[in-house]
Amino acid sequence: MQNKKVSIHTLKQAKVEQRKLVMLTAYDYPFGLLADEAGADMVLVGDSLGMVVMGLEGTTAVTMETMLHHTQAVVRGCKTPLVVGDMPFMSYNISIPDAIRNAGRLLKEGGCDVVKLEGGVDFAPTVQAIVKAGIPVMGHIGLTPQTASALGGFKTQGRDLAGAKQILEDARALEDAGVFSMILEAVPAPLGKLVAESVSVPVIGIGAGDEVDGQVLVTHDLIGLFDKFVPKFVKQYTRIRPIILEAMNAYKQDVQEQAFPDREHSFSMPEETLEALKRSLDKPE
Ligand code: KIV
Repeated sequence: MQNKKVSIHTLKQAKVEQRKLVMLTAYDYPFGLLADEAGADMVLVGDSLGMVVMGLEGTTAVTMETMLHHTQAVVRGCKTPLVVGDMPFMSYNISIPDAIRNAGRLLKEGGCDVVKLEGGVDFAPTVQAIVKAGIPVMGHIGLTPQTASALGGFKTQGRDLAGAKQILEDARALEDAGVFSMILEAVPAPLGKLVAESVSVPVIGIGAGDEVDGQVLVTHDLIGLFDKFVPKFVKQYTRIRPIILEAMNAYKQDVQEQAFPDREHSFSMPEETLEALKRSLDKPE
């Protein structure tokens, strides 16, 4: 039986009932299907695909066209989870009309349910305008990868008093602007707890401790498919890369030794058809 599609209401209710929310990333149809089958509440088509799928150094070069392409594929696999389309760098930073247009494209052309964008107080007016246009928005504060270089690199945020206060202010500004939820990345666990207690919408942590309302991890990190670097907050639940590599090496060896394809993986032809074919080649009409 098909489960009921997760809604924003379901997520808000989960916070009230203190049920922890589960969010995964996906960038294509097979992983969308897997996240759906695993029972994720939300699936994020993250711009992290720039790093884990496209091999870029960061996320800033990811374009709207790339996000639309991957979002369409994920949506086909996700029946139950709420699908979150990530707004890439500069798709919402230039002007509010531009931000509304691009958020609308992610929903209309990408097919996702809601959008996510990075930024706190400074982006509250943008969030408010997108929400007013009828598009639900998820916030993303703490470490914001699109502007990581301005934050001094991929570093834990909110460790000093001023930084921690800023994150709390960001969270409140996003709530006031109308986000339905927010991601909080790479902050000390006690600050994660304080942020979750300070707002009424679900706070989804990634490196924000266990006392937030749910967790998200980049799927390619948690399955050990991307292991160029592994942030402290990532738990690798499996290491799939060596398993894939072993299969590829076995295939290579089979091909080189002519052990593949064998009879089981080849198509046969009636003997008499083959003989007739050979005769016709010897004596062309
Ligand atoms: O793009 C992404 O995958 C993200 C997660 C790190 C939350 O924003």
